[in-house]
Amino acid sequence: MTESATVTGSVTVRVPAKVNVQLAVGAARPDGFHDLANVFLAVGLYDEVTAVPADELTITCSGPDAAQVPLDRSNLAARAALALAERYGIEPAVHLHIAKDIPVAGGMAGGSADGAAALLACDALWSTGASREELLEICAELGSDVPFSLIGGAALGTGRGELLTPVETGGTFHWVFAVADGGLSTPVVFGEFDRLTAGTDVPEPAAAPALLDALASGDPVALAKTLSNDLQAAALSLRPSLAATLAAGTDAGALAALVSGSGPTTAFLVPDPETAHRVAAALTASGTCRTARVAVSPAPGATVV
Ligand code: C5P
Repeated sequence: MTESATVTGSVTVRVPAKVNVQLAVGAARPDGFHDLANVFLAVGLYDEVTAVPADELTITCSGPDAAQVPLDRSNLAARAALALAERYGIEPAVHLHIAKDIPVAGGMAGGSADGAAALLACDALWSTGASREELLEICAELGSDVPFSLIGGAALGTGRGELLTPVETGGTFHWVFAVADGGLSTPVVFGEFDRLTAGTDVPEPAAAPALLDALASGDPVALAKTLSNDLQAAALSLRPSLAATLAAGTDAGALAALVSGSGPTTAFLVPDPETAHRVAAALTASGTCRTARVAVSPAPGATVV
């Protein structure tokens, strides 16, 4: 890691997207966040963040959705570099290039992924010697989903999603993701969840034992029966057209369909790669989404390449 920084003067980190196979949401807390039981699965769609020494902190981004990515200090990659530099008393003199392949504002933690990747890249570039625990602590300060982007694989997130316990997976799961036109704002979706559940008794969020068993068994049919997302009704309320996308994927042979995180990307669990390609083609032809992507899970977390 350090050797690559010394030899080339740059460090590139590859980082995966995620899907939530269970997203159980509790009532709003006094701090505005919601307690979650959030079962994350990293999927093999990747961004790459390259850190190069520079006069000052700058960001560029390439990829089909690059125009939608902020290049100022609101970008989680910039915030990660600043947080690490401040902690170690280092000048944040780095250029970060994001090669973006994860859908933007899609509920697949693309921004969080870039935060985790930039943190790991700057850590290697600056040879800080930070422990894994310290990096995870900085990730949690950056956002609820950022720690998971660092560790990847599969994990249960509790608290606001940042307290992670690794979860066993017994095989490879195949997915299709339908990317919608335009994003959905995570706080707005949580706000809609609050509106829809107002006056009801929102139960304490808990991981479903049948879902954890299905992940451990590697059986997609068992997993399909247990997928759930408490934000789905809110995402559908804000974007009713997603119902047609979900139906197009299940009509084409997906075992199950759900909104990914806060959406608007929709996720389709399929039994094998052949079905994945068939469902992706049907989704594209249906006209109910902008594009469809095939990916497998679990995927490794942020890794220096
Ligand atoms: O943690 P992060 O900055 O990614 O969260 C973005 C927004 O999503 C928060 O400001 C909050 O509105 C909402 N959120 C929430 N409960 C969580 C995670 C996020 O209400 N557990």
